[in-house]
Amino acid sequence: MPVITEIADLKPLFRARVPRMFHDYVEAGSWTGQTFRENSSDFQQLYFRQRVAVDMAERSLASTMIGQPVAMPVALSPVGLLGMQHPDGEIHAALAAKAFGVPFTQSTMSMCSIEDVSAALNAPFWFQLYTLRDQEFLENILHRARVAGVSALVLTLDLQMQGQRHPDLKNGMTAPPRLSLRNLMNIATKPRWALGMMGTKRRFFGNIIGHARGVEHMGDLLDWTSRQFDQSLDWARVAWIRDLWGGPIILKGINDVEDARRAADLGVDAIIVSNHGGRQLDGALSTIRMLPSIVAAVGDQVEVHLDGGIRSGQDALKALSLGAKATYVGRAYTYGLGAMGAAGVTRALEIIAKEMDLTMGFCGERDVRAMSRDNLLVPKGFSGRWE
Ligand code: GLV
Repeated sequence: MPVITEIADLKPLFRARVPRMFHDYVEAGSWTGQTFRENSSDFQQLYFRQRVAVDMAERSLASTMIGQPVAMPVALSPVGLLGMQHPDGEIHAALAAKAFGVPFTQSTMSMCSIEDVSAALNAPFWFQLYTLRDQEFLENILHRARVAGVSALVLTLDLQMQGQRHPDLKNGMTAPPRLSLRNLMNIATKPRWALGMMGTKRRFFGNIIGHARGVEHMGDLLDWTSRQFDQSLDWARVAWIRDLWGGPIILKGINDVEDARRAADLGVDAIIVSNHGGRQLDGALSTIRMLPSIVAAVGDQVEVHLDGGIRSGQDALKALSLGAKATYVGRAYTYGLGAMGAAGVTRALEIIAKEMDLTMGFCGERDVRAMSRDNLLVPKGFSGRWE
């Protein structure tokens, strides 16, 4: 086993272990991949101020997200199909997050059901919901989430339609996945993965199959999902879902100042500045560049969180310094999960925490909550005015 010291070390292990169609699903951005790439590369335009001769002993990464204590302000983003990256993947990721002390957000499109995660975890977790059309399913899944002890609903707003991701289209990566001969041949080259998958019953979308009217088998799912994305979604519907849920709610997929204002006016607990990891609108601005304007507009009204492009503790710290109260990682922990299950998720979180802790010290700060714009050198125009 190679020595793993950074998130990038997990990627080749992930690629070697997981069938190509599921690997590519994680790595894809939409269309040209510009936004997917810039989400990460724009972090490199920001520089830390190096400070010395400051007492930096006794540092702390502890913080809160929507009032809930976290060991560090880095939560696990909802990622679909985790249970295809590793058998029972959602359970393993949730257990690793719980042990580490950060929130795990379960995706609607997961292999394990909400009930599976709840039973394995025996602790609150977060649940992500798409704004689907099926009213009965929506009401039912919110009820199931409440019963399962979900402590925050993360409502995704930027998936009214699905972005076009070339690798997914070429690989037949649909819900359910199309098991073409090419895919089956590739799976045959991943015996550890295949063996693991044979050892679990959770290979189907556990939140949906048997819970949505007319969806009894994987075969029905493609038809159902293609009809479900709610292209007519508007703010009134968002408010309606907020009221139906009645608990802590986070709106995900805000990457525009005007939308941030609308979201903040709804009185939600947090918004996540997100462009879906560059998987939806390619050509949209990276989230880190959008962040300062959104914080300036609504930061005193609502907690502003950020996801997109974070592959290190330094990236997360830059987002916090620019005013995000908290951050999320998606791909960074999924590489770890695919590579080695729960241990890989734990390793990813350890790497990020270590990088945050040391960087914070080099910046002359002892408390992650104290990181601010003052700790950075930001190039002129980084989040400047746009014509
Ligand atoms: C779904 O949310 C996806 O990004 O594939």
